[in-house]
Amino acid sequence: MAEQSQTLIEVSRLVVSFAQSGGSGMFHAVDDVSLKVARGEVVGLVGESGSGKTTLAKTILRLYKPAAGTLQFEGCDITRLGEKALRPIRRQMQMVFQDPLSSFNPRVRIGDAVALPLRLHKPGPAHQIQSKVQDLLSRVGLGPQFAARYPHEMSGGQLQRVAVARALAVEPRLIVADEAVSKLDVSVRAQILNLLRDVQSATGVALLFITHDLRVARYLCDRIGVMFFGRLVEVGATADVFSNPRHPYTRALLSTLDDDDGGGLAALAPPAPASSGCRYRSRCPIARSDCAAHRPELQAVGDTHTVACPYVLSD
Ligand SMILES: Nc1ncnc2c1ncn2[C@@H]1O[C@H](COP(=O)(O)OP(=O)(O)OP(=O)(O)O)[C@@H](O)[C@H]1O
Ligand SMILES: [Mg+2]
Repeated sequence: MAEQSQTLIEVSRLVVSFAQSGGSGMFHAVDDVSLKVARGEVVGLVGESGSGKTTLAKTILRLYKPAAGTLQFEGCDITRLGEKALRPIRRQMQMVFQDPLSSFNPRVRIGDAVALPLRLHKPGPAHQIQSKVQDLLSRVGLGPQFAARYPHEMSGGQLQRVAVARALAVEPRLIVADEAVSKLDVSVRAQILNLLRDVQSATGVALLFITHDLRVARYLCDRIGVMFFGRLVEVGATADVFSNPRHPYTRALLSTLDDDDGGGLAALAPPAPASSGCRYRSRCPIARSDCAAHRPELQAVGDTHTVACPYVLSD
């Protein structure tokens, strides 16, 4: 076999459309996005509500079908694969959701919830499954006694630990964590972030980490992609994005980091709809008249740093 590539996921010019609510026609929730995730890499997606983070992640998991563009997983084009062909690939990509309680069946004990993916993907004798469940629980810091509990008998933080254990059960190559700590108390949040970091470095799983919270992204991620209304406007190594943000939107986001509520993105006003050109132009302090004419593409500003604004390339 050829040498394995370091690229786990390659998203190329991806477009995902939905019907416009209350109107006719479609709009692009993800609009011409290209992104690579390497094996074992932790990539953050940040951007305000509605910018398309979840849609992009769900499309990578092929829960949505793209309208255009391609999606490769371990070099295999999965853009249009049918359900049957997707089955072995789905196991490789797991998700941890925002709301711990609603991601568990209330009538299924924790031990069985973790055992289910094992039974499906790695069937074996009951005692073997049980010991694997205990092992998974212990890897996320939970004792064996938790296996007998029901979801409502657990705290939010404990349930998020179980969600991580359940995701790890099938030894995936990618875990998507969509706002996985945002519903937790601040003190618990740090514990779950540390858990994700530990699990990631112990297993080498890649993480796509979606968050509103820039501080969280800085803490956890190797690389960060900043989304604005369906587009990636800046992608770079976390240190570069934080120390040398280029896109005016990234700069605006980072300036909110000093606010008391710490990196909240919801406070920003929605932009005026812009059908062509740069969608950020109505908010942009450096907008020029030709920003309406051309939609900016990501261009390199460093080895691993790209930005979609032609007016910030050389500063
Ligand atoms: N299943 C769907 N059907 C129709 N429109 C959708 C669907 N899912 C998302 N959208 C719309 O697509 C856009 C992007 O939504 P998405 O949920 O991906 O954003 P997000 O960045 O994850 O936001 P948040 O931070 O609030 O989770 C929004 O305008 C949203 O209303
Ligand atoms: Mg979302």
